[in-house]
This record gives sequence, C-alpha cells and structure tokens, in this order.
Amino acid sequence: MSYYKIENLEQYFKHYKKSVREPRKFWGKIAEENFVWYQAWDKVFEFDMEEARFEWFTNAKLNIVKNCIDRHLAKRGEKTAIIFEPNNPEEKEQRISYNDLYARVSKMANVLKDQGIKKGDRVCIYLPMIPELAISMLACARIGAIHSVIFAGFSSSAISKRITNSECKFVITSDGSFRGNKKIPLKPIIDEALLECESVEKVLVVNRAGIDIKMMEGRDLWLEPLLEQASPNHVAQVMDSEDPLFILYTSGSTGVPKGMVHTTAGYMVQTAYSFKNVFDYKENDIFWCTADCGWITGHSYIVYGPLLNGATTVLFEGVPSYPNPSRFWDIIDKYKVTQFYTAPTAIRALMTEDYSYVNSHDLSSLRVIGSVGEPINEEAWHWYNDHVGKKKCPIVDTWWQTETGSILISPLPFITPTKPTYATLPLPGIQAVLMDDKRNEIEENQIDGSLCIKFPWPSMARTIWGDHKRYKETYFSQFPGKYFTGDGALRDEVGYYRITGRADDVVIVSGHNLGTAPIEDAINEHPAVAESAVVGYKHDIKGNALYGYITLKMEGEYRDRENLKKEINQYISSHIGPIAKLDKIQFVEALPKTRSGKIMRRILRSIANGETKDFGDISTLINPEEIEKIITKTI
Ligand code: WT7
Repeated sequence: MSYYKIENLEQYFKHYKKSVREPRKFWGKIAEENFVWYQAWDKVFEFDMEEARFEWFTNAKLNIVKNCIDRHLAKRGEKTAIIFEPNNPEEKEQRISYNDLYARVSKMANVLKDQGIKKGDRVCIYLPMIPELAISMLACARIGAIHSVIFAGFSSSAISKRITNSECKFVITSDGSFRGNKKIPLKPIIDEALLECESVEKVLVVNRAGIDIKMMEGRDLWLEPLLEQASPNHVAQVMDSEDPLFILYTSGSTGVPKGMVHTTAGYMVQTAYSFKNVFDYKENDIFWCTADCGWITGHSYIVYGPLLNGATTVLFEGVPSYPNPSRFWDIIDKYKVTQFYTAPTAIRALMTEDYSYVNSHDLSSLRVIGSVGEPINEEAWHWYNDHVGKKKCPIVDTWWQTETGSILISPLPFITPTKPTYATLPLPGIQAVLMDDKRNEIEENQIDGSLCIKFPWPSMARTIWGDHKRYKETYFSQFPGKYFTGDGALRDEVGYYRITGRADDVVIVSGHNLGTAPIEDAINEHPAVAESAVVGYKHDIKGNALYGYITLKMEGEYRDRENLKKEINQYISSHIGPIAKLDKIQFVEALPKTRSGKIMRRILRSIANGETKDFGDISTLINPEEIEKIITKTI
C-alpha cells in the first residue's frame, strides 16, 4: 500500500500510527515511491536530540529541481507549471509550461554558473513576485547553490545583515517593483545595502519596472542579455540529501535574525507530501497561495510543494486591494482556482469591504481554502467559510513555521471534521505534545501548554547558519529531548490543537513574524531615546500591532512629540522595513524592571491590551510605582 495520499479518517489514524511505530518504513516508502533519486539512502534517518543533529535519507543523491521539473516533462511538458498574474490586471498574464520552465531555469542556471557560482555558494535573491523569483530559486537549487531569499519589503540595513551573515557571493534583484498603484525602486536599496557587504561579487538585475538605475561597472549586470545567450539545457547537479538547499531568515528574541538552514531530501519529501494531502491536490487543479516567496509559505507552497507534484501554481505580483478589493476574487474566477491559500490578516481586511465585492464573483471552482500565519479568529473563519467557501469548501487552518519547513498540524480536507479556530490534528509523522511549566508532558485533554514536537521530521531546519549553538539553545533546551515551537496551544476533548499564540518575544503582525528585540535596537539608535520596550497588542485587522514604550534622554530638545514619533518610525523603517513600524508610541518616565534589571514586558503587554488590573506577581519589580504612572500618563 502507498502512504503518499490519505483517503479517509480511518486511514489517517492508520498512517499516523505507522509513522510513530515504524517511522523508517513510513518515510522510507514515501521517499522511494514518489521521487527520483540518483542513489538510494543508507539510512532513513539518524539523529541526536541533545546535540540537535539530524539527518534524513543519509547518503542518498538527488536533485530537487529534477524532481520539480525534469521528471514531469515526458507526461506534462505542455502543462502549465506557473501562471504569473501581474500587479496590473491590464497587463497580460504569463503561462509557463513545464517545458518553458525547464528552459528558463536551465538558462538561469547556466548564467549563474558562467558568472562563477559554484555548488555551496550563497546567492541572495531580492526580487518582487515575478517569475524570475521562482526561476532564480530553482536555478540555484539546480546547480547546488544555496538561495537566501529576502522579502522585497526589507530595508537596506536588514538586507546587509542577512547578506553578511551568510556571505552571499551574488545578489539577484530587479530595478524595481510594482505594488498596487506604486512603483518601488529596489536596486538602489541593494546598492545601499552593499556598501556594507564585502562578500558580494556580482549583482544580476532583472528589468521589471523600467526605472532608471545606476549600474556599477564590473559588479552589476543586466540579466536579460545574459539569459538570451545562455543554453536552454542544463544537467542538474548531483546533491547529497543533507546538502543545504536554502537559508531563510526569521526573527528571534535577540537582535540578530536566525538564518534557518533547510536541506535537500527531507524538505523535498515532506513539502510534496504535505501539499498533496493538506490541499487534496488532484491532477488538473489550479493552486493559488497568496504568500510572497520571501517567506517560507512561498518557498514550500508556491514553488517546491506544487512543482514536486506536477501542479499548476499561481504567482501573483500584486496586492488584494488593487485596483479594488475584488482582486483576489477576480483571479480565482479568471483561472478557476481550485485551492486558495491565504492569511487571516488578508481575510480580515477583505471582510471589512462591501459583501458585493466577493459575492459578485463566481467562486464555484474552489474546493479547498486555507489559512496560515497566525491564529484565525472565529469571525474571520466564519466569513471565509460563508462568503469564500460558500460553506462547501473545507477550511484548512495550517499550523507550521519557517523552522518546520512544511505544514505540521492541519485538517485534511473532506477527511478531518473542521472546527473554527482549531488547526486540529498533526499530520502523520508529527508527534506533537503539550508541556506544562514543570516540563512534564501533559497527558490529559482540555488543558493548554507549550507546544513541542518530540520526534524529528524530514523537513525540519537543520541548524542556524553559522550558529549551531543558538539553534540548540533556542529549540532544544527549554524542553530537553524535544523541539520547542515557541507557541502555546490548547488541546480539546478530542485531541484537536488550537494554537493560542507566541510564548516568546516574537509578535505576529499581519502574519509577519517580528522579533521585538531588533525593533527596540532600531528605536534605541535615535539620539533622543534612552530605552524602549516593544510589545504586541490585539488589532482588528493585523491580528497584532506593535506598541512601543519609550523613555527619553533629552526630553526638552524634542518637544514636538508627534514629530519624534514619526522620526522613530523612520528609524524602524530604515533598519528593518516599514512592516515593523509601531502603531502606538507612548513616552514614559521609566519602564517597569525587575531587580535583575529586566524589563517586565508581560505587564506592558497587559497595559497595551487595555488590561489595567491584576498584574499577577509583581514582587520582583524594583519600581512597581511606575505601573500606575504608565497607565495614567504619558510624558
Ligand atoms: C509562527 C511561525 C508557517 C508559515 C507562516 C509563518 C504562527 C503560523 C499558524 C496557524 C496559529 C500560526 C505561529 C508560528 N502561525 N500558522 N495556522 N495558527 N498560528 O511562518 O514566520 O515562521 O511564523 O506563525 O505562532 O510559530 P513564521
């Protein structure tokens, strides 16, 4: 029997049990039957939880792009692999067949190779959502270079930190991008970032927006002429299972972003498997995930998961509100999308628009609708169910992380009965557990605890680039022998999981995972600022928004507080990016601190959420009198 596709609930339980009792057989069979390998593995896995060392499909040889493209050519050469829908609905879409994709990826691979990129080199990709983004990722993987995609909303200083951390040799970017009615220059941001990066030898530039930019002699090259001359054939590089496939940065509780390293075989097997099951993928489906390839969701469910299954995947350059709030519904109707995967923040924004925008469209092609990125609140769940799914499409509320590589907890459509706000059950292979404060596993249901995974899974990140110690400490030390997700969760009476939110100093704003520490670092650079504490508070559309409590060094010199707030937000924009701006800023005399000098963020979080009583144990505070002052006044 095949384990690749789960057909019903009974089978789900059967596969789940098999995956726990005989994980080698379970994953070994999936890997063997659904992919092409140059050479088989010696062992399905080997690990050491204490040292946080993991290997899957040890010593096997493969190329993930051969699995994404080449092996489909005989049967699906003419089938559309990628539908590119431009920002402007007046601009014609591109339909890239598997044959075309093979040629375009091969050309890009040849250009990278000719320009000097070798296996193991890091390539930074800083591009808008255009076909070249997916093609660059695939071209890197094809030649064995490690891609590091940086979301095109990040600022130059955020970029230079990331490029420096992974010592990228090349950058692939574009002159600019289109977003809604805006034209945004990108190349100048890279130019500024590169003033501080020594590793970068070349910058390859896509001409997307027709913006006049400066090209640096000897470093910058336009891509089109190089691609035109390149051969449309390329033999994929033989890779080891554990060769890094990509680095993707995510926020942590300290200032330095964590470069999560994903490797080749395990990531391939599980993204393909989860895509097939979570979206009930069938041969003629049109799959659309609205994420950006700058995030893990785009890596796994716009590019790798769909292509590994020979699917047609939609790549959308624009935003949900342009030219009007029907854009998503127009696209679903235009391409007869069968699976639609988006984020709660987008749903909440579209929900505030007139019903006619969504109800005037034919959405009858939809079969499965998905949500990812943060807990989906009950109201948004129902709106999504009623108006988009028309009560006929199961909602898959998928829980996972940059670190997990693929979806770990989710309903299986038409199989798992859904329940609003619940991500429901772990997929086969995922041994989820809840832990209490004393680090004991919680056996009973209807209790909440810290969500951990107690057995490795193929697509887990293997390390933090250049900092294995931090990887070990962040994920494997709080609950020894287990992977700690950083999330709290609740388990209901039947064992369904509901994710309740982050247990650390990470705030999810509009689905973007933001560490508060780097934001505070940026604020503290402003000459007027003495200290700052950033916390999240509940926000109707964004899920959470950021609230900054700030003490000042030179109160007198900055009497214009509104202007100071603007300046502080400009600091944040230029250090991290506009996504990390504070919605509320309060200047205070002092921050509540413990005797050991730690800011008590828990209290600030409560105040930001309007809770001004019952702060729990404040006996460790050195200045409890500040709490009342913060509640009642700003300076
Ligand atoms: C954090 C990971 C994984 C793709 C996008 C985010 C939160 C993610 C859900 C969900 C509740 C969710 C968690 C998680 N999260 N999906 N369905 N329900 N919370 O990736 O940036 O690495 O963020 O997003 O808090 O830990 P990421």
